[in-house]
Amino acid sequence: FVTAQACDLTETDADKTAKAAVETNITNNRPFVISNSRYRQVYHVSPPVGWMNDPNGFSFFKDKYHLFYQFYPYDTSTGNIHWAHVTSPDLVAWTQEPIALLPGDEQIFSGSAIEKDGTLVLMYTAHKTEKINDTFSLANETQYLAFSNDGVVFNKYKNNPVISFTPDNSRDFRDPKVWKHENYYYVVMGTQTANKLGKVLLYRSLDLGFWEYFNEIGQPQNVTSNTIGGYMWECPDFFELSGRFILLMSPQGMAEVGDRYHNQFQTGYIIGNFDYTTGKFTETASFQEIDYGHDFYATQTMEKDGKRYLIAWMGSWDGQFQERPDGWAGSMTIIRELTLVGDRILMKPVDAITNLRDGQANNITLEQNGVIDTLNKSGELIVTFDLTQNLSLKFQGASDTQSVVTLGWDSIAKKVSLDRNYNATTPTNVRQGEWNPINSTSLRIFLDSSSIEVFCGEGEVVFSSRVYPTGAWRVSNLAAQSVSVSVYNLKRSVAI
Ligand code: FRU
Repeated sequence: FVTAQACDLTETDADKTAKAAVETNITNNRPFVISNSRYRQVYHVSPPVGWMNDPNGFSFFKDKYHLFYQFYPYDTSTGNIHWAHVTSPDLVAWTQEPIALLPGDEQIFSGSAIEKDGTLVLMYTAHKTEKINDTFSLANETQYLAFSNDGVVFNKYKNNPVISFTPDNSRDFRDPKVWKHENYYYVVMGTQTANKLGKVLLYRSLDLGFWEYFNEIGQPQNVTSNTIGGYMWECPDFFELSGRFILLMSPQGMAEVGDRYHNQFQTGYIIGNFDYTTGKFTETASFQEIDYGHDFYATQTMEKDGKRYLIAWMGSWDGQFQERPDGWAGSMTIIRELTLVGDRILMKPVDAITNLRDGQANNITLEQNGVIDTLNKSGELIVTFDLTQNLSLKFQGASDTQSVVTLGWDSIAKKVSLDRNYNATTPTNVRQGEWNPINSTSLRIFLDSSSIEVFCGEGEVVFSSRVYPTGAWRVSNLAAQSVSVSVYNLKRSVAI
C-alpha cells in the first residue's frame, strides 16, 4: 500500500502557506491571552489561543512523548477543527510544536498515532458534512492517515480514506485508536447502530493501508434502552492491563443512576477477556466510570516501558469555560498511570509530576477553621485525616468571599464528594462516590489556576474538575477534626 507517491512526505507550498497562516494567527492573538492570565493553567496543557477538546495521537516517537489535540484557533468554541501538537520529555513539561494537521474539505476529528518503520503515522476521522437538500445535511465519517518522518511536519496520505464503511453503513463512525499486536495492526472505532445504541468496531490490517473488518468488541449488554448503554460511544481505546483487557470509551446518552453519570456524557470502561484469533471480547466486569469529576471526557492512553498512561480532556461539551473572555478555552488533565486491582482501574499521577514541586513540603496541622494561605495559583496538597470522622475542606481564591469547591468525606456513607460552586448564583453541584481505601488513606490534591484533581488513596476514586478561583488558592478546614497537610507550590511546566 505504501507507494512512494501516496505517502509523499514533502510538504506542498500550499500546505506550508496554510500552516504559516495559522501560526501567524496564533502569534497575533497570544498577547491578549498572556495579558489576561487569571485562569491560565500553569502545568496543564491548554491551547495557546482558541478552543481545545479531545487529546489525540498520544505516543512516543524520536525520544519524545507526543500529544495532539482537537484545536480551533479562530474562536473559543469548536469550529472547523485542526490538530495541534505538543511534545514532552517526561509527560510533565510540554512544548508547543507547529500546527500538525489543517482541515481541507474534511474536519480533522479525533484519532491516534503509531510508529511504523521510522515514520509516525496518524490515523484520524475525516468528518464531512453531506448536503442532502436545502434544509438537511448528514455527517460522513471515514478514516484517514497522515505521516511524519521528523515528528514535526505531517502530511496527509494521498490515497485517503483507508476505511470508508461500517458493516451497517452507520454515519457515526469515528475516533480510531490503533495499536500493533504480533503481525497485525488493530484499530477500534466508536459507532452507533441503526437502533441507536453505542458500539465499538474492531478492524485489522497488515500494513495500515488495507483494513478488514474483524469483529465488534463491545456493545451494551442486556440493554433494552439507549439511556442505559448510551446512543453513541465516542473515543474508544482497547488495551491489556494486568493480563485482562480494558475497553475504555466515552458513551453519550446514559441516564443518571444514583451518584453516577451526572455529567452530560461519561467516560468509563468494561473489563473482559479477548481472543486475538477471533477478535471476540467477552465482558467480565460491566461499565464503570473511571473519574467522578465534573470535567473528564474523551480519554486516550499510550504504553511505554510497560506502563499505561492516560490523559483526558478536562472538559465537557456543556462546560462553562469561564476563560473564554480571555481568548482561550480548554485544558487537559495531568497524565495518570493506570493499574488494575480486582475489577477497578486505579489512576495515580505520573511519577515525574514531583519534578514540579517548588522546594520542600510545608508540613502543617490544620486545626478546625485553620487556613492555608501560602499557596500561589498552583499547588499540591497531601491530606491525611481520620476516616472515622467527617472531612470538609473549602477551596477558594484569596479574593473570593466563598468556596469555589468543597471536598468532603462522609464517614457514615463512606463517600468522598466534590461540591463545585461556579459562583454565588449557581446551586451546589455535587459529584460523589464511595471510597474503600485499599491501602493509603491520604488524599492527593492538584490545584492549578482553573482546575482541581483529587486522587484518593492509591487512585481508587479520582475527581477532575474545572474551577475558577479569584487569585491565589486558599484552603480552609471546616471539619471538627484537625488534619495533617503537606503543601507544595508547583512550578510552571507549560508556556503561559
Ligand atoms: C469527542 C468528539 C469525538 C470527535 C471530536 C470532534 O469529544 O465528539 O467523537 O472526534 O470530539 O471534535
